[in-house]
Amino acid sequence: MAKILVVDDDRNLTRVLIEQTRRMGHHAMVASTMRDGVENARLGDFDLVLLDVQMPDGNGLDFLPTFKEVASRPEVIIVTGKGDPAGAAKAIKSGAWCYIEKPHVTKDLNLHMARALQYRAEKNRAARGPVVLKREMIIGSSIKINHCLDQLAQAAMSDVSVLITGETGTGKELFARAIHANSRRSAKNFVVVDCASLPETLIESTLFGHEKGAFTGADRAMTGLVKQADGGTLFLDEVGELPIQTQKAFLRVLQEHSYRPVGGCDELTSDFRLVAATNRDLEKQVSVSAFRKDLLFRLKASVIHLPPLKKRLEDLRSLTGYFVSRLCERYGQEKKEFGVDFVATLSAYDWPGNVRELAQTLEHAFSAAFHSPTLYANHLPDHIRILQAQTAVQQSKTSLQACQIPSDALSLPAWRQFRDSYEKEYLQRLLAQTKGNVSAASRVADLSRTHLYQLLAKHDLQG
Ligand SMILES: Nc1ncnc2c1ncn2[C@@H]1O[C@H](COP(=O)(O)OP(=O)(O)OP(=O)(O)O)[C@@H](O)[C@H]1O
Ligand SMILES: [Mg+2]
Repeated sequence: MAKILVVDDDRNLTRVLIEQTRRMGHHAMVASTMRDGVENARLGDFDLVLLDVQMPDGNGLDFLPTFKEVASRPEVIIVTGKGDPAGAAKAIKSGAWCYIEKPHVTKDLNLHMARALQYRAEKNRAARGPVVLKREMIIGSSIKINHCLDQLAQAAMSDVSVLITGETGTGKELFARAIHANSRRSAKNFVVVDCASLPETLIESTLFGHEKGAFTGADRAMTGLVKQADGGTLFLDEVGELPIQTQKAFLRVLQEHSYRPVGGCDELTSDFRLVAATNRDLEKQVSVSAFRKDLLFRLKASVIHLPPLKKRLEDLRSLTGYFVSRLCERYGQEKKEFGVDFVATLSAYDWPGNVRELAQTLEHAFSAAFHSPTLYANHLPDHIRILQAQTAVQQSKTSLQACQIPSDALSLPAWRQFRDSYEKEYLQRLLAQTKGNVSAASRVADLSRTHLYQLLAKHDLQG
């Protein structure tokens, strides 16, 4: 039995829909305003939402992303009184299962609902997989990293090539290893090819192996990395550095899974799964003929883009906790605490070296605070503290007085904390001024209703 939420203000229609879904053996409930709909979707564990477009307090197409993002990730069927091609396109782009016009709804609904629920059941079964995803110490629970973990889980189930992109230190190799560890190939080798450090003259023999006497110094035959990855995963790290001739040879291996060792006559085979990583823009490299378009095309059968740390600062605390407790364990120390200024200072920095830089910074701070049970901001390197101090000075110059924040720069909160409290104050005044009317509030604030609802939810406020 599936749980279905009908968000519609047309009483006659909702009565029919409820009856229809119950006859199919499902449990259905109705919300007759968008606000109730969003609230119920957030609280309930719905599999499917039947969403009207024209509602008294909002447009279903605007709210579609909000419904798709609630914890149960329901499928959404748009039920519209007046269908139009632009609306249909918007619905599908925003992830609707389908778009049905009201006059046809009773006729078409059973079939669409059955398909959507079947799809959902299969997706859930597949997502659960044989075992829970082994995260391989990938820390973080931000929306961004969770999205990457969903992609990882999906990639691990198949054999398609995966391209992992992201700035230096964002965890590309960590993800590549996790894909292997979660795949059916996990018992076999995970072979790393660091394309940036291979000498050009040895690349082909390193990848494909060579026969005895194939070149000066080849005094015995050698198996290449491609063969070592047979049955397992071949990780081409820094794939953007692969010389153009090797790209051609490699493309052939990918297409045929067979190759010839340097100096050899026989074709050998290897059944490997390819994962590649790069911090370069490969499309740009293609445009200057530094990377083969056909190879890129094959590599990006599935792409996972890892966000830079500064775009997911929500994960900073858990990453910090993880790295510091690892250091405590390594040095046999009691768990260390963080001073309030410590995480605030870390959050003000922009982390060009991403998680790797964070781990190194914490190691530095840990040794500076070796005998102290608490880590304070002054255990951090100067360049990180300077940025926090500068941010603080700038803040005090601008909106400090307006928001009555203490003028003592040292007692300033972190930027996000400051911004959030200012945001909350704004929303409270906005709601007071518009007497809690979300439509009026969204007009005054010039925000879409979806965005406004998200902000209200973030601050636990109600329109
Ligand atoms: N989400 C994460 N949780 C825990 N540790 C992480 C995470 N992301 C990265 N790390 C750690 O940060 C370090 C850098 O990660 P990794 O080597 O995978 O980065 P990369 O993207 O391959 O960097 P580069 O482009 O410089 O090769 C590693 O020690 C890794 O374990
Ligand atoms: Mg790497």
